[in-house]
Amino acid sequence: MIAHSGNMETYDYDVVKKFTIMSVVYGIVGFLLGVIIALELAFPELNGGISYISFGRLRPLHTSAVIFAFGGCVLFACSYYVVQRTCKARLFSDALSKFTFWGWNLVIVLAVITYPLGLTQGKEYAETIWPIDILITVVWVAYFINFVGTLAKRKEKHIYVANWFFLAFIITVAMLHIVNNLAIPVNLTDSYSIYPGVQDAMIQWWYGHNAVGFFLTAAFLGLMYYFVPKQAERPVYSYRLSIVHFWALAFLYIWAGPHHLHYTALPDWASTLGATFSIMLLLPSWGGMINGIMTLSGAWHKLRTDPILRFFIISLSFYGMSTFEGPMMSIKTVNALSHYTDWSIGHVHSGALGWVAMVSFGAIYHLVPKLWGTQTWSVRLINVHFWLATIGIVIYIVSMWISGIMQGLMWRAYDHYGNLTYSFAETVGAMHPYYVFRAVGGIIFLLGALLMAFNVAKTIGNKGEPSPLRTA
Ligand code: HEM
Ligand code: HEM
Repeated sequence: MIAHSGNMETYDYDVVKKFTIMSVVYGIVGFLLGVIIALELAFPELNGGISYISFGRLRPLHTSAVIFAFGGCVLFACSYYVVQRTCKARLFSDALSKFTFWGWNLVIVLAVITYPLGLTQGKEYAETIWPIDILITVVWVAYFINFVGTLAKRKEKHIYVANWFFLAFIITVAMLHIVNNLAIPVNLTDSYSIYPGVQDAMIQWWYGHNAVGFFLTAAFLGLMYYFVPKQAERPVYSYRLSIVHFWALAFLYIWAGPHHLHYTALPDWASTLGATFSIMLLLPSWGGMINGIMTLSGAWHKLRTDPILRFFIISLSFYGMSTFEGPMMSIKTVNALSHYTDWSIGHVHSGALGWVAMVSFGAIYHLVPKLWGTQTWSVRLINVHFWLATIGIVIYIVSMWISGIMQGLMWRAYDHYGNLTYSFAETVGAMHPYYVFRAVGGIIFLLGALLMAFNVAKTIGNKGEPSPLRTA
């Protein structure tokens, strides 16, 4: 569909709509996979001895489905929407828009086929084999050209701050993806990384941490800077703070990767450097959180009636929480306890569910009625989703904190003779109840997402008739 803006320029909403629908679909698939692997960890016999659905094969499918399929589609949809609206210009090229949509979906389908077959290159969050890596690069370059081309033809003098975050995300992810995947192919499915030993680990975690920093953080901050002021109908709290936030975040994140490799073959100075930059990262992260939350100054009362705003505020709170926890975990003595334990998993999901998924849900609810020119079918259902998601996340992360800290403490407990107090199997047994709680939290979270899918489908078809469920 072609939508008209004030100055007779036309926007391409077609591609935004397609990415929005796919983000809902992939969200459900990714969360479902999360629930399945959570259940497999609690009850390992659930895989029925079938290798294709074993934990080891489904886990990368979960991480890729949530980060790149769900998160990726949310980001394509929102960046394409925001750049058009804030530049008052149609996307640079319809052909490139279509190409990025179909290309990105092809990447996802290929990952879904190859991972269960065990075809991966064994790098976390970069599992895709080399031919798929090349396809990702081509799609990403098309995305870059389309985004920058739109900025170039903008009718507004000013480039709104959300677009800075999107652009930093697009450029940095291109650089990370290409450098981390440099490899020598040996046949159609296998390749060897060009980096030997510890350099490979170093490059991998430079990539891994900045996937967090630029994919899961900077890009979603782009959403925050556009949708929070829009939904609150207030200007951003401080434009100056957003500029400081942007540059400090971009400069500091890129150095923090070695905190993933404490106490390894990596030189000690490198891991100390990583920890130092991680601790400094607390400042811009909290600057951003404060900027988002304070945007509600004078509009706090809206939280009482607007569940979309509640999604945004909770997401910012989780952003603040996980960006406090992360710097703490990067301190070597803390990491000695947290590393290899479920504490990391709790941290990941307070960022991933609490921040990334919640800000995405808010954005999807904001976007759908605008894109289709309809009315939200049920505000009450959005509210129910909000509570299910929040309760599910809290159950998930609290059980992982308890399980993780207990696990770390049990591993390091010694008796008077210097022998380990607990066998490994005893630590696994102790974690079982928390694995069950985590799965329950995941199921509740998934239920909320199913309600969202239903509400979105109804909203798309809702021509504005009042619905009995529509009030808050
Ligand atoms: C219903 C919701 C979800 C459930 C039940 C769930 C469950 C899980 C489980 C069981 C694991 C494996 C943990 C382990 O290896 O010990 C995992 C890993 C992971 N999940 Fe989720 N997940 C959910 C949603 C998400 C979302 C929305 C994201 C990102 C946006 C995400 C990102 C990740 C990442 C990055 C890992 C790997 C963590 C690491 O290696 O440290 N998950 N998830
Ligand atoms: C100031 C910000 C942050 C810092 C300094 C930070 C730091 C850390 C540290 C120290 C670890 C543990 C590394 C290890 O022991 O292996 C970690 C793991 C992780 N964090 Fe964060 N974190 C931050 C924010 C976030 C946010 C907002 C998210 C999600 C949106 C996130 C996602 C992850 C993931 C996915 C991992 C697990 C990586 C893996 O082992 O597979 N982090 N982070």
